[in-house]
Amino acid sequence: QNAVPTICGLPLKYVSLVTLAVQNAMLTLIMHYSRVSSAPSQTYSAAAAVLLTELLKGSISLLVAFSRIDSYSPQYTPNAPGPLSCSSLWNPRTFLSRFRRLGKEVFRPDCWKLSIPAILYVIQNNLQFVAVSNLEAATFQVSYQMKILTTAVFSVFLLRKKLSPTKWLALFFLAIGVGIVQIQTGGTKPPSPSEHEMNAFKGFMAVVAACFTSGLAGVYFEMVLKNSPADLWVRNVQLSLFSLLPALVPIIFTKSPSSSSAGWFNTSLFDNFGVWAWATVLIQVLGGLLTALVIKYADNILKGFATSLSIVISFLASVALFNFPMTLTFILGSTVVLVATWMYNQPDTSSVEVGSSHC
Ligand code: C5P
Repeated sequence: QNAVPTICGLPLKYVSLVTLAVQNAMLTLIMHYSRVSSAPSQTYSAAAAVLLTELLKGSISLLVAFSRIDSYSPQYTPNAPGPLSCSSLWNPRTFLSRFRRLGKEVFRPDCWKLSIPAILYVIQNNLQFVAVSNLEAATFQVSYQMKILTTAVFSVFLLRKKLSPTKWLALFFLAIGVGIVQIQTGGTKPPSPSEHEMNAFKGFMAVVAACFTSGLAGVYFEMVLKNSPADLWVRNVQLSLFSLLPALVPIIFTKSPSSSSAGWFNTSLFDNFGVWAWATVLIQVLGGLLTALVIKYADNILKGFATSLSIVISFLASVALFNFPMTLTFILGSTVVLVATWMYNQPDTSSVEVGSSHC
């Protein structure tokens, strides 16, 4: 079992779960606003945002991994450097020694295992932009809860977990709830002059695909993390490194909406990258780091529970900020999703649980 660290006396597990719930609601709202508040030709490149997120997340993880190197890769010499301090950081001998050990950790023989979740997360992060640009923020938030279902299915297949009948029933209700929410979003909304055209079908298909990659990547990452002794931050650096190539692919092969030049030497990669685009990237970075902490110190079930709390937060904010209509079908669907999430998180009478894969 992992020793659970604390922040200001509070267990990191719960701090990260609550922060993740708030982060999720903020991300949906800000990402949605950043995409639909301008005409498609004036919006920023989603692929550039995904790449930037990976670069920032990777850099932060690299710094944290470096500062913790002595805790997971101690030097076995009599003159071993002590804990990292400002003076030892600038000491060339200890700096280089730590840097070498970090390199060895990052490029350990099993690092290729991270290439699978890395590719899946890049696909998911791009799909998320498609979904959020074509669905109302709250509708997206509720539909995205289907990832609890995909996470459970992949846990059954990959981690060979057994689900209690209550949990299967909860998953069934979850699918029903998401279906009810979809009833009201059947058509394509006509665009107003300042608005982005939204295609609910395209958005829903993107959500379904993103739920598959989320479930598979999450379970796979949990499996790698809990089956090996490598440090979480080293794993995050590996994940970001393997993400760079797939994150570059859509940049190379797509043209920017405001430019006729090919993507490769496109100088307009960061065109229209305004304050809301930056806010989206920074909240994504925070979310990525929190997700990793939650998978490590809690598990995928608790992650699902935290994110379903964000439904309520983003629903209320959507009503207040975007005049989202509070229809009966939406309230009914959201309630079914919330009750299903609550049911799913009830402790089992038997000892087996999906998602809490301490393998
Ligand atoms: O919705 P879901 O929980 O699947 O989203 C996971 C998000 O967290 C993805 O955007 C993924 O890129 C990010 N992540 C990360 N580092 C990890 C695990 C997930 O950045 N170690």
